[in-house]
Amino acid sequence: MRPMFLSLALLTVLPAVAAPLPVCGYEDRPATLAGYDDWPHTLLDTLYRLPEGYAPEDLVPVSDAGVGTGDMRVRGVAMPDLQALLAEAEAAEVRLEVQSAYRSYEYQVQTFAYWVAQDGLGAALKTSARPGHSEHQLGTALDFRSADGPAAWELTDWHETPEGAWLAENATRFGFVMSYPKGEEAVTCYSYEPWHYRYVGREVAAEVEASGLTLREWLWRRGSHGAG
Ligand code: DAL
Ligand code: ZN
Repeated sequence: MRPMFLSLALLTVLPAVAAPLPVCGYEDRPATLAGYDDWPHTLLDTLYRLPEGYAPEDLVPVSDAGVGTGDMRVRGVAMPDLQALLAEAEAAEVRLEVQSAYRSYEYQVQTFAYWVAQDGLGAALKTSARPGHSEHQLGTALDFRSADGPAAWELTDWHETPEGAWLAENATRFGFVMSYPKGEEAVTCYSYEPWHYRYVGREVAAEVEASGLTLREWLWRRGSHGAG
């Protein structure tokens, strides 16, 4: 077979090669899987974002799980597993608290502006999502802390506390994934956040853990950006 025909023949039998994960950058691409039922698979990062009006309708107070303050809410879909996680933590004498839960687009405008004022734009971009880009807008992301401690980001490494270590060890069993693990800044595009967990359900969390990938890489590989 002549080379050209050979390569054409190969093209028809080889599977399409998945597009590589984009390098970190700042864009405003609309998230493709952005329906309220797509919550386990919605890819949000420094490139992909939710519409301004995205606000889930099944938000419930995190106080239903015995944590947080009255105005903190999380999607109802995450509540049974959050309650189960906190019950098991308590049984292990690990006292967790919630520092931040659902954040509307408008709330994230204020949050991001706060960190820019505090640390400057360059540093804020590493630690805070621009409005529309935060997993907190999904209503499924929670920032945890130790019940007897300050906000986890006040500590050098919250993972060094019994609460941070317990959560890192056990969160997956309850469907929560640490979105921004240590040493993965080049692929998550955010600084290490041992306190920030996103609820993706037990099945997806187990798959992400088994893959050894960060959530962003896993979502990209499964085609959540819309190309697959
Ligand atoms: N701190 C994370 C990146 C957020 O703002 O959602
Ligand atoms: Zn967070």
